[in-house]
Amino acid sequence: MNKTLIVNRNQCEEILSVEKCLPAMKDALIAVSTNQTKMLQRFMIRHENGNSLANMPASLGTQDMTGAKIIIFPGPATAKAKTQQGIIPLFSIETGALKAIIDAELITVVRTAATSGVATDALARKDSSVLAILGCGKQGRAHVQAMLAVRDIKTVYMWDLYLETAKAACELLKVQYPAVEFIPCETAKEAVVNADIICTTTPGKTEIPVLLGSWLKPGAHINAVGTCTAAGRELDADAVAKSTIFTDWNEAVNRDAGDILMAIAKGELDAMPHLTEVGNVLSGAHPGRTDREEITMFESVGISVEDIAAANMIYLYAKENNIGTWLEI
Ligand SMILES: NC(=O)c1ccc[n+]([C@@H]2O[C@H](COP(=O)([O-])OP(=O)(O)OC[C@H]3O[C@@H](n4cnc5c(N)ncnc54)[C@H](O)[C@@H]3O)[C@@H](O)[C@H]2O)c1
Repeated sequence: MNKTLIVNRNQCEEILSVEKCLPAMKDALIAVSTNQTKMLQRFMIRHENGNSLANMPASLGTQDMTGAKIIIFPGPATAKAKTQQGIIPLFSIETGALKAIIDAELITVVRTAATSGVATDALARKDSSVLAILGCGKQGRAHVQAMLAVRDIKTVYMWDLYLETAKAACELLKVQYPAVEFIPCETAKEAVVNADIICTTTPGKTEIPVLLGSWLKPGAHINAVGTCTAAGRELDADAVAKSTIFTDWNEAVNRDAGDILMAIAKGELDAMPHLTEVGNVLSGAHPGRTDREEITMFESVGISVEDIAAANMIYLYAKENNIGTWLEI
């Protein structure tokens, strides 16, 4: 009987980092745009208390792996109690055997930031040195790590709905990156006006944008990360209209990119702008940025192949290094 490797949250923390995840996310995004994946869009069962069961399946034919992220998107009480959990079961496509069950909480944070890192490396100007983070929670802090991994960032402006949260994130990150200047900001505009790279990592669940196009410097790059449904947005229509738009997966963006869909629904944009999957830039099929003054935007909805690729990376490392617990299911 096949044995299954269980890798828990602490073990995932030992194995996975944003920096280590970058190559796996690059390969996954290329696989999306070269039809080497099979993937379904995220589907959810919503409950009255706000806890939704999200299911995100994908197959990575290149790695003989198929699986799904099954995770609770927490409602307010669960988020406060921090009791939500998630798993990624991985099966061999060839034999059907259950190879591993990997904790999904850390993967979600790390693979999202690493994906933005890969997109930024492909799209942002090489001389980008000023970063703005809007929303200083888990994603905001992980995005600092990802941006510092791909560009020589000297200054980071950090803004959050709560100034105390921005200040606390700056203090934490200063310890990790003593050579970088971290500046907490009272307004989003103050954070953005001098930035070469902007990451929006707020909840993005309302129609009030946190990033306005009128604040953007020519040549800036945006990672739009927080909004994952059509019911909210982080960017105003001007920011969308000014940008050349790259995506993780066009199919998911057409359904879930509230940044764009809400502007269309409100009549602020005429139609869906041209979308290019960033995997096409990474594979060399598309030039990406073509002008120093061009504003580029990576619209990240978050796709299941990123989870499967990160989980597979953890599985292979854990197997090789005797980490985790083998069980017969
Ligand atoms: N694109 C993807 O692949 C992907 C993956 C995971 C999470 N996300 C999204 O990223 C967002 C952030 O996730 P997280 O795990 O960092 O959450 P988090 O709760 O850790 O952090 C969110 C931060 O935003 C701040 N905030 C709340 N409302 C705000 C507002 N109106 N303006 C500015 N700041 C505000 C909070 O104070 C908090 O610091 C969520 O919306 C989540 O759905 C996207």
